[in-house]
Amino acid sequence: MPSNNPFNHFIHQEVIQLTTQRVAVITGGASGIGREASLKFASKGDKVVVADYNEAGGQETVKLIQDKGGEASFVKVDVSNQADVEALVNKAVELYGRIDVMYNNAGIGGAGPVLSQNMDLYHRTIAVNQHGVAYGIIAAGNKMKELGIRGVIINTASVFGFLASPGTFAYHATKGAVIMMSKSAALELAPHGIRVIAVAPGAVDTPIIQGFKDSGMLDSMRAKVMGGELTKPETVANAVYLVSLEEAEAINGSVVMVDQGYASFK
Ligand code: NAI
Repeated sequence: MPSNNPFNHFIHQEVIQLTTQRVAVITGGASGIGREASLKFASKGDKVVVADYNEAGGQETVKLIQDKGGEASFVKVDVSNQADVEALVNKAVELYGRIDVMYNNAGIGGAGPVLSQNMDLYHRTIAVNQHGVAYGIIAAGNKMKELGIRGVIINTASVFGFLASPGTFAYHATKGAVIMMSKSAALELAPHGIRVIAVAPGAVDTPIIQGFKDSGMLDSMRAKVMGGELTKPETVANAVYLVSLEEAEAINGSVVMVDQGYASFK
């Protein structure tokens, strides 16, 4: 039924503008934090490119988004392969015409205690968690610069980027690197209006921590989180979405803790 309110037209226009502008590429979108971030961005009207090497999980995320009326596509990618990551960014632009948000989130666990490293796993951890993020920053940064887009690049670090814990030597190295790559890239991309941010979750209930659970460490992990329960991946996704917004423009070159006190109070 038509309304007599003359402002309805403008209100409607503003809603459309605010909710359909952006294109977000999210790596690790098949599971955990990446899946929840994909759902969150899509629920706010962003078009989401769900990227992962787990094709079934990625397609499922896309279906979850589409079932709720959102817009998303899946692109298979191994983030440790630079050509794959470049192709991902190009595909996003081919599909949706632009790229506003690059969330470099895909990651794997560590390679064991320092003196008994599985060196293949060591190199794989560095390749995925560190080089994968570097490739994402480079590909998205170049594309945003080329298209003149004042975008945002968000990288998942961890409290383990600055707090040591036994048995996760390679993982620490990569997350420390993610923090410094975020700061360094933010400095260089600022003249182009592109922000770069690291988010640092604490203990989040996703498949990546299954190994800790299996070795009986669940209670000690819970104890590190305020409230005594693991952080939910959707809570991390909410924070990632918030820092992606233009209103958060002062958050740049920063490490945003999304850890429910993990690194602050123990
Ligand atoms: P998850 O295991 O649920 O998700 C990781 C996703 O990355 C998976 O879908 C996996 O298929 C994908 N992936 C792994 N290697 C890939 C590759 N080479 N190319 C493309 N995709 C790949 O785990 P979660 O927790 O959602 O992990 C997301 C990020 O959060 C990771 O970077 C992790 O290090 C980080 N993180 C997680 C914490 C936790 O307690 N769960 C705490 C702090 C950081």
